[in-house]
Amino acid sequence: MARSNRFTLPSSEITPEAAFFSRRAFLKALGFAGLNAWPLLNACTNFAAEKRELGGTLVNLKTLTARKNDRYSLDRPLTDRVEAAKYNNFYEFTSGKDVWRSVERFVTRPWQVAVTGMVKKPRVFDIDELIRTMPLEERTYRHRCVEAWAMAVPWTGLPLAELVKRVEPLSGATHIRFLSFLCKDQAPNQGGLFTTELWPYHEGLTLAEATNELALLAVGVYGKELPKQHGAPIRLVTPWKYGFKGIKSIVEISFTDRQPPTFWSSLGPDEYGFWANVNPEVDHPRWSQKSERMLGTGERRPSVIFNGYGDYVAHLYRPPRLEYFY
Ligand code: MTE
Repeated sequence: MARSNRFTLPSSEITPEAAFFSRRAFLKALGFAGLNAWPLLNACTNFAAEKRELGGTLVNLKTLTARKNDRYSLDRPLTDRVEAAKYNNFYEFTSGKDVWRSVERFVTRPWQVAVTGMVKKPRVFDIDELIRTMPLEERTYRHRCVEAWAMAVPWTGLPLAELVKRVEPLSGATHIRFLSFLCKDQAPNQGGLFTTELWPYHEGLTLAEATNELALLAVGVYGKELPKQHGAPIRLVTPWKYGFKGIKSIVEISFTDRQPPTFWSSLGPDEYGFWANVNPEVDHPRWSQKSERMLGTGERRPSVIFNGYGDYVAHLYRPPRLEYFY
């Protein structure tokens, strides 16, 4: 048997001589001759790579070490990392989906999270200390936006219940209020979009929801720290609820004895309520919630009550009331 010579190209890959010369003539006519062609061609290649890294927002992100928790399996493929990072909601910066274009000035270090209110041990956590000292795990979760787009991503984070345990809530505490950052210099919409008094973005959960095993404080995604557009350096993930409950870039977690007001429920109480549990049978007043569109592939899938997490959370909402689902 003849041995193949690894230095010899198969004939199918050799450009015929005539084509080679005519290609050279063509490039020459365009001014791409000899060595001069290289800088231009490289610049084009780098531009493509830069675009794929979404303006640099996906480069230089630290890798996070975390235990993989396989308990929460997916019924769909993971969304492509770049697709998930180029279609976001982060109204502080823009009401468009290309948030990655607007976060350059957002500074996410140093960053502290204050845990306040009705707890025995109020504390201020430095984000890097939190990442170093808390039990981080990676979980794959579905995500369903109220706007009917969806994704499936691996978050890295700490169970919110773990943080709650460490600060020891007082017996009268029933709810948690979450507050995002306020910095008009970095987030231009805080000075112009909606009424300025509404900012910072704020959200809330009952204590029972917050200590449910699914509730996660995410500090990373796809094995690396969060890109800014996903809510760096720390955000909430509650996969059974519409995505607006997942407040990004948290600076304060405060325990209280009443249901806190929330950003979207102040803007549209009939459209974006406090509870916001996914339910395909309860339409948004302006669109159907029956199905969802996957980011990246555009695939349409039927939506599922509690976004498929009913076994974990349905008991929190008995007997069911309509207001639990918007
Ligand atoms: N958090 C803040 N601070 N500001 C926002 O505008 N948008 C919410 C939520 N958290 C938002 C936020 C909405 S509407 C959704 S669907 C999710 O973030 C989107 O998360 P993603 O962009 O990481 O997919």
